[in-house]
Amino acid sequence: MIKNINYTDENVLNQELDGIFHKSWFFVGLSDKLQNKNDYITYRCGSVSVFVQNFGEQLKCFSNICLHRFNNIHKGNEGNGHVICSYHNWVYDDNGNPMVRSACLKEELTSCSRSKLEQHEVEICGRFVFAKVNKKDSVSLKEFLGTFYDKLFELSSFFQEIINHETIVLNHKANWKLLVENVLECYHCSSVHKETLVPIGIGGKKPENHFYENGHDKVDYPIRTTALQTEREAKLSFLTKTEYSHKSLQHWYIFPNLFISSTAGNLFYVGKLSPEKPNLTNLYAEFVKPTYTGLTKKEGMLLNAYAQASLDSSKRVIFEDRDILEVIQKNLSIILNDKQIFGEEEFRIEAFHQNIKNIINYK
Ligand code: FES
Ligand SMILES: [Fe+2]
Repeated sequence: MIKNINYTDENVLNQELDGIFHKSWFFVGLSDKLQNKNDYITYRCGSVSVFVQNFGEQLKCFSNICLHRFNNIHKGNEGNGHVICSYHNWVYDDNGNPMVRSACLKEELTSCSRSKLEQHEVEICGRFVFAKVNKKDSVSLKEFLGTFYDKLFELSSFFQEIINHETIVLNHKANWKLLVENVLECYHCSSVHKETLVPIGIGGKKPENHFYENGHDKVDYPIRTTALQTEREAKLSFLTKTEYSHKSLQHWYIFPNLFISSTAGNLFYVGKLSPEKPNLTNLYAEFVKPTYTGLTKKEGMLLNAYAQASLDSSKRVIFEDRDILEVIQKNLSIILNDKQIFGEEEFRIEAFHQNIKNIINYK
């Protein structure tokens, strides 16, 4: 397994950024955020800072660093606007060319190594938008996702709408691998989430239907029948009208930076991570209401109230995890030469480690 030093070392993170995040396709966001002309989403990961924008006819991905004096062109995680840098108002066209009028600036630009914004690949699978900055590797998104391409496509066909107004951004003072390992097991659910997930029957049951391919991973954690769960099912019987029906917490990890979960087909969580430092990782979260059929008007209203309550409780789950991960990160830097121990229910972590060990030469 991977020694703790690999969770704290700057050089290791740089190798991971180059060998993993900057090499493969990575998830940028949901196309729901790119519906209108000039809608954009930004993504920063190590030395890569990009934005994906709707230019009317198509989505394009460019470097988000201005050619003039290297300010970020688009600020924040998402928004709508022309490609204009806020520092000195340089404007870029939809091919990444700066539209400078001054002849002397034009001349200066020709002597720069970059005279237009670098363009990157962008592809979409259902409602999941991915980008790739590595130009040497010609693998398509479909090849990269393999069997998961069709699965993701189908999954997002059940997405109705994002219910949080703005993307939820949560900095974790922890290494990115700890965030991945944490979502790859529900062994901790009965203890860490005893007030949030346990009452709704999640935790304490062996995972089922595990499917793994090329680093991408999906599993079902069956939901137990609890008193609260039975009572809830009776009161909220309309929840069975979801078009994505399953009695489990379904979890997907799309390598390297996308987490998806579905709580019994009643709420989807879509999480994106980006490593910032060995001990700092940003997590961006969206919550999505699935499509339902045959809801009465009253049920529709109840569903909205349910979705809001689930959103609050799901955010609590993320905070509960974060508290633990930040403590672990501190302790890993004390016990550098040891490694974590993974039991039977943590087999998805072993697969994740195997995959990254094939790419990175860990210490
Ligand atoms: S840094 Fe962008 S316009 Fe000056
Ligand atoms: Fe958790």
